[in-house]
Amino acid sequence: MRTALNVLAAELKRLKASGVKAVTVSDESLGALRRALAKSGGESRPAPATVSAGAASPPPAVRPAAAPRAGDATIPPPPAVHLPAGDKPARWAALRDQVLGDMTCRAHVRAGKQVVFGVGSIDAQIMFVGEAPGAEEEIQGEPFVGPAGQLLTRMIGGMGLQRSDVYIGNIMNWRPEIPGSSGGVQYGNRPPTEQEMAYCLPYLKAQIEVVNPLLLVALGATAAQGLLGFGSFRALGEVRGRWHEFAGKPLMVTYHPSYILRNPTNRSKRLIWEDLLKVMERAALPITEKQRGYFLEK
Ligand code: URA
Repeated sequence: MRTALNVLAAELKRLKASGVKAVTVSDESLGALRRALAKSGGESRPAPATVSAGAASPPPAVRPAAAPRAGDATIPPPPAVHLPAGDKPARWAALRDQVLGDMTCRAHVRAGKQVVFGVGSIDAQIMFVGEAPGAEEEIQGEPFVGPAGQLLTRMIGGMGLQRSDVYIGNIMNWRPEIPGSSGGVQYGNRPPTEQEMAYCLPYLKAQIEVVNPLLLVALGATAAQGLLGFGSFRALGEVRGRWHEFAGKPLMVTYHPSYILRNPTNRSKRLIWEDLLKVMERAALPITEKQRGYFLEK
């Protein structure tokens, strides 16, 4: 029970750091929590149930990458990636084999789960870069297939494209583990550590080299930190909605789709959409008046 409470506390901290101001807890859940705390010897102090704040405000600060953990000792220095000669499909397939066979990646994936490599068109103009696989992704072995991924697919649709027209990758190739959940079910996600991200980054760079997209889109603060460098910004607002550069490619930074899932208001949708309009302009995609006006209504 302690573990479950610790995981809950970690998830609440994560939500807070990513800008969520309040969560709604039903009386029933509150009662269950009090009973659980009492059973585990904790203090059963009545806590007021809060109501979600109305209008969403953008996440104020970077969700910090997890501090170095004991597990980081098992992360070796970043791998050297050697792309073979050959055509694009052969180079991409060789890279995929290398990542899926990487012993460090495999060692961090729990039984029955998968290392996750990028997906999509290897001729894509636009490459989206996320943070790390979540529960659904490590089951299916594909990035962005869970709830945030379904929303990303709809966002891509709003741009007049299909998921198969773009390339979607993550900084991390495995789902960062939460101690205590090895072998069993893992509840919640944690941001990757700097060391974990440094390990996987050469694999993302190699995907950029092979696919050679026109531009990159970083989804969320962790992906942006991974690409722009740790400590390069404090709050996502400092870098979001502007063009940067990574691996010689223009890089747009925007919110992670999970931010919209937590704040499904027109205001937050419009913020991310404005960034995607800039991406469409730079990629010379046609933009209709209707598309320009998405999410403007209150
Ligand atoms: N969030 C990410 O950043 N990447 C995924 O693949 C899924 C959710």
